[in-house]
Amino acid sequence: MISRIAEIRSEAAAAIAAAGSSEELEGLRVRYLGRKAELPGVLRKISELPPEERGKVGGAANRARKELEELLGARAESLDASELDSKLAGDRLDVTLPGAPPHPVGHAHLVARTQRTIEDAMVGMGYTVAEGPEIEHDYYNFTALNHPPGHPARQLQDTFYVQSHPEVLLRTHTSPMQVRAMETQPPPIFVVVPGKVYRRDSDATHSPMFHQMEALAIAEGITLADLKGTLLTLARALFGETREVRLRPHYFPFTEPSVEVDVSCFQCEGTGALPDGSRCNICKGQGWIEILGAGMVDPNVLGFVEQYGYDAERVQGFAYGLGIERVAMLRHGVPDLRRFFDNDLRMLEQFA
Ligand code: PHE
Repeated sequence: MISRIAEIRSEAAAAIAAAGSSEELEGLRVRYLGRKAELPGVLRKISELPPEERGKVGGAANRARKELEELLGARAESLDASELDSKLAGDRLDVTLPGAPPHPVGHAHLVARTQRTIEDAMVGMGYTVAEGPEIEHDYYNFTALNHPPGHPARQLQDTFYVQSHPEVLLRTHTSPMQVRAMETQPPPIFVVVPGKVYRRDSDATHSPMFHQMEALAIAEGITLADLKGTLLTLARALFGETREVRLRPHYFPFTEPSVEVDVSCFQCEGTGALPDGSRCNICKGQGWIEILGAGMVDPNVLGFVEQYGYDAERVQGFAYGLGIERVAMLRHGVPDLRRFFDNDLRMLEQFA
């Protein structure tokens, strides 16, 4: 009996050492130590042995069982570890691989792309990009921009107010960010501000919501000539290297002097006529296309930010505000501004 126990023990020990997986190991546990296995059977039947053999056989069988349990435990641990290693190696994810989306990737909306083109041109001239709130205070939208109390833009028929808060409105232009930007940093400041603006307007060239790009430059010694040079660079980036700009006198409450800015027509090269002699349809025969409003920042506006370091006797500068949809319409021949917001894929996919 003793020798049989030794035989089982060495056979089992060899099998355990050779086991190649935890599954196989579990099979060996059942085979050598399970309820129907031989060694536990010996232990169960100790009482049937003659009394003088019980101690020896029981001792040998118990030692063998304990030893096999230990061998099984140790082997299980090392198998688990190597199985985990190979599982981890097999599951490794290469996050640098390109994705495989089930649907083709989309593209930026033409308005967003136009916005970025303008930003790129301005960033190239040293400007930073900032954004501001679309729900704005009367103070920033009008008061600090030098709008007198009776200014028509303040009227209900032109501006969306918040009913419960008469001093809060949807901004009618991005110009309020001129004041907000100056409140956050002293001069010199060179900033552009893209964003949505809202007016009670709707026709082929007006939508109640549209996008503007504001620019503000304040430093010592900035002149109207700097404004014109900046606009020329921008116009050429947007409409081609042979463009010219021209300034016409205008009025805005927050700039003095104020100008409207035209760019020479990119279709007829400013002649107003097409090669066949017919009238250019883009500039309506004018040779010039109006693209934005601008001017030298009114010292009264700087008065509202004097405590932030803007001394109108020391610094001055310019601002402009441009309609992003208008630029996109001109560059791509889009006939109706409202098409940008219909979300018709046939329209949007033309500008992929
Ligand atoms: N905010 C003006 C508008 O929306 C445009 C503008 C901006 C004019 C900056 C001058 C300077 O019409």
